[in-house]
Amino acid sequence: MKIAVTGAAGQISYALIPLLLERFKFPIELFLIDLEDKVSQLRGLEMEIHDFCFPHLKKIQSGCDERALFKEVDVAIFLGAKPRGPGMERGDLITTNAATFYRQGKILAEVANPLVKAIVVGNPANTNALMLIRGGEYKLKNQIQALMRLDQNRAKSALDLADDQRKEVYVFGNHSPTIFVHDTTQEVNDFVRKRGADIIKARGVSSQASAAKAIVDHLEDWFHKDERHYSAAIYSEKNPYGVDEDLVFSFPFSNKKGILKLPLSQEEKQMLLITEDEMKKERQIACTILFSN
Ligand SMILES: NC(=O)c1ccc[n+]([C@@H]2O[C@H](COP(=O)([O-])OP(=O)(O)OC[C@H]3O[C@@H](n4cnc5c(N)ncnc54)[C@H](O)[C@@H]3O)[C@@H](O)[C@H]2O)c1
Repeated sequence: MKIAVTGAAGQISYALIPLLLERFKFPIELFLIDLEDKVSQLRGLEMEIHDFCFPHLKKIQSGCDERALFKEVDVAIFLGAKPRGPGMERGDLITTNAATFYRQGKILAEVANPLVKAIVVGNPANTNALMLIRGGEYKLKNQIQALMRLDQNRAKSALDLADDQRKEVYVFGNHSPTIFVHDTTQEVNDFVRKRGADIIKARGVSSQASAAKAIVDHLEDWFHKDERHYSAAIYSEKNPYGVDEDLVFSFPFSNKKGILKLPLSQEEKQMLLITEDEMKKERQIACTILFSN
């Protein structure tokens, strides 16, 4: 299986690649992509990966030529995104990344395996995933998801602490503070919404090991031969919740049947509208830049 990773010189990638190779034991070829000024870090990472001595790792190639490195890939993991810098508005973050993901979506649709599955992690993940879909002229709309599994895992850990042992935990909406957990308390929602910021405050950097673990969990469920249920941000066309049909929105998802329909309380319906509204605004900002030139 050919797997491409963008933002491969970054911190999540450093935690992700050993986990990925530990979890998936079939023959793998890795294509590591980052910006031109990160080529030396990519070479160093390549050397370390060789030193893992995984017999099922068949090839590694790295660089910044997206067209060459996405060629015929079966899986693409999008970690690469410009972070929010000092003085940068959220709108600037959205527009810069929108242009990148739109361009990458076009290339992916042109050169990857037509059955490629892609997961977007770089923030704002949901809107970046939508731009990836739009860049590829919607050809890959049902093959692109954004990572919500970290939020799901955070919710599960909060519920475990509250002694709620339910097996299936779902999050709805945007990977942002408007997200909500299905069928839970205000405390659990607050925990999930603040967790990322709490980790940044404590560590000085954003979640990396837990994000890497969540990516591997997500991929394992998505590709599993048996039916698996998890939270995934997917293209919202024909969703049963009445959400705008051109977003990448987190729903309860079955890898075999698609979106799962669960009953929502009145309060949850209100929260759904708030997170949907935020995503519509992000889409508008992203599109303003793309279609103003
Ligand atoms: N969705 C989630 O649940 C979740 C969780 C944690 C982090 N994140 C996001 O994941 C992303 C990666 O996090 P990190 O800690 O690895 O960040 P990082 O800054 O360590 O690494 C990001 C890497 O992306 C590269 N990059 C930037 N633009 C690129 C482009 N156009 N093409 C290829 N590479 C590019 C950078 O050079 C850098 O090496 C961030 O956007 C972060 O906010 C998302």
